[in-house]
Amino acid sequence: MFNLTTQFLIEGVLNGFNSTVFAYGATGAGKTHTMLGNKDTPGIMYQTMKEVFTVLDDFKVDRQYEIKVSFLEIYNENIRDLIDTSGATPQDSPESYLELREDPAQGVCIAGLKEVEVCSAEEILSLLIHGNGNRTTESTDANIASSRSHAVFQIIAKHRDKGQGIHAEVNVGKLSLIDLAGSERASKTNNRGLRMIEGANINRSLLALGNCINALHENSLKGKENYIPYRDSKLTRLLKDSLGGNCRTVMIANIGGAHSSFEETHNTLKYANRAKNIKTNVQKNT
Ligand SMILES: Nc1ncnc2c1ncn2[C@@H]1O[C@H](COP(=O)(O)OP(=O)(O)OP(=O)(O)O)[C@@H](O)[C@H]1O
Ligand SMILES: [Mg+2]
Repeated sequence: MFNLTTQFLIEGVLNGFNSTVFAYGATGAGKTHTMLGNKDTPGIMYQTMKEVFTVLDDFKVDRQYEIKVSFLEIYNENIRDLIDTSGATPQDSPESYLELREDPAQGVCIAGLKEVEVCSAEEILSLLIHGNGNRTTESTDANIASSRSHAVFQIIAKHRDKGQGIHAEVNVGKLSLIDLAGSERASKTNNRGLRMIEGANINRSLLALGNCINALHENSLKGKENYIPYRDSKLTRLLKDSLGGNCRTVMIANIGGAHSSFEETHNTLKYANRAKNIKTNVQKNT
């Protein structure tokens, strides 16, 4: 999966281009398995970091690099840091929620999100495991460890050419790796109470994502300039650049093969098929 979907993006990121990879699909279809994996079979997030450091060895010859990572989740429409959780518990501490801002130069950014400098892929693996331990997961009838939040792992690669002193241009490439919460139907998960509220929020942001994909699809199909409803959810505000802006974007569609998943599978493929036609516009960030 990594070789086919993500590997080709890495050189671009190290050259100062933005990329996003996100896994989309029904609950239990394998999004977390694909993006995060576990200690024995690490997923795309870890594979990516390993590759980043391999490619970096070549690039470092005449450039100076700084690699940082951040890890956040969107839970019930609130953004939380998964790395820096000092003094904050998830459910009921609004002080720990981070604010999303739009900066004309940097694009979408999260105020106060911790960015950790890393030097090896091994460091990342423990960071990922630590971060994922802080993530909100619950058991539902459809998946015993169902992600109740959208998780965004971001790699920020800054570089400048060596030997140009203080006048050297600084290039910044960002790679966002996203494990979405699963789309689900309340009838299938038998959720009640808090689980149901979470489910409603998850579905709300996925619906907003679907609406943006539909609108972008229509625009690129008919050459229109329809309004894109990015502001309908935190998820779509965060993904604004990835979907319709300055970004190379890969969508991984996770589907279940069983005939009982027919409807979800059909839906996922329908969105994936529409997303294929969306055109983004990639520029180097200098
Ligand atoms: N390709 C695969 N090979 C082996 N096990 C898999 C594979 N895909 C998924 N699984 C297993 O199936 C279970 C459900 O997968 P996972 O938690 O990744 O689903 P999900 O799409 O993230 O669901 P949710 O939206 O509820 O978070 C997990 O135990 C996972 O390890
Ligand atoms: Mg999951």
